Amino acid sequence: MELSGGVALVTGGAGGLGEATVRRLAEAGAKVVIADLAEDRGEKLAKELGESAVFVRTDVTDEDSVLAALDAAATLGPLRVAVSAHGGPVAKSRVLDREGNPYALDLFRRTVDIYLTGTFNVLRLAASFMARNEPNESGARGVIVNTASIAAFEGQIGQSDYSAAKGGVVGLGLVAARDLSPLGIRVMTIAPGTFFTPAFGIPEEQAQQAWGDKVPFPRRMGRPAEYGALVQHIAENDYLNGEVIRIDGAQRFGPK
Ligand SMILES: NC(=O)c1ccc[n+]([C@@H]2O[C@H](COP(=O)([O-])OP(=O)(O)OC[C@H]3O[C@@H](n4cnc5c(N)ncnc54)[C@H](O)[C@@H]3O)[C@@H](O)[C@H]2O)c1
Repeated sequence: MELSGGVALVTGGAGGLGEATVRRLAEAGAKVVIADLAEDRGEKLAKELGESAVFVRTDVTDEDSVLAALDAAATLGPLRVAVSAHGGPVAKSRVLDREGNPYALDLFRRTVDIYLTGTFNVLRLAASFMARNEPNESGARGVIVNTASIAAFEGQIGQSDYSAAKGGVVGLGLVAARDLSPLGIRVMTIAPGTFFTPAFGIPEEQAQQAWGDKVPFPRRMGRPAEYGALVQHIAENDYLNGEVIRIDGAQRFGPK
């Protein structure tokens, strides 16, 4: 899929992995819609990138909000790429806490709503826009990239909601690729290990010590630019479809 001349939508585009993706896709010649809740960071990035990007305040859990972002994308050209890289708050607590209290059901629902339902919301609506594209010479209309996590496979203690949501994103990938194959729309999933982003909420040095030292090689946290480079490769390589790619320096989470 040729990026130049096409449009990409990146949810969480003002966050760590999302911003790196926005920059990478813009450098490759796409016009990018930064779809994020964070107005200050999103507007700032769009301003910096000039004609290559626009910011649209977007809540991935809301149908009208995602449709508004896609409408904005449609004014720039054909939507070729949609990347779900939004985050959200994650509570960390065991299924039963030390006092035996069960995990709060509303917290579990909220996490699934943002990470899984939000991803599906973006996927289904982006696909409906891509379906209107003229196919290229290979019959391709677009590519959707979802973000899971290695916690989808090795959920750590206290990650029940997050791991379940990310496992759902993994499960969604193949069926969506199959469903959308008659239209020439590919669906890929990236499962990152630990990448230093604002989501960690601590200084980089501290995060590197806590997380980077546990990565076999390279012995450091991932760089958001490495995630962005993978998104670009997926977008450009037509034979990648219906698969999950781990990008984790061979990291495998233990229980803690
Ligand atoms: N950083 C990592 O190590 C890592 C590892 C595995 C998976 N991931 C996944 O990658 C994605 C991005 O993570 P990150 O580290 O870049 O996080 P981040 O916190 O840096 O960025 C997330 C962005 O999503 C936005 N957002 C939150 N709720 C939203 C909503 N309802 N609608 C639209 N935007 C919303 C935030 O404003 C923020 O800009 C997440 O899904 C995360 O689970 C990250």
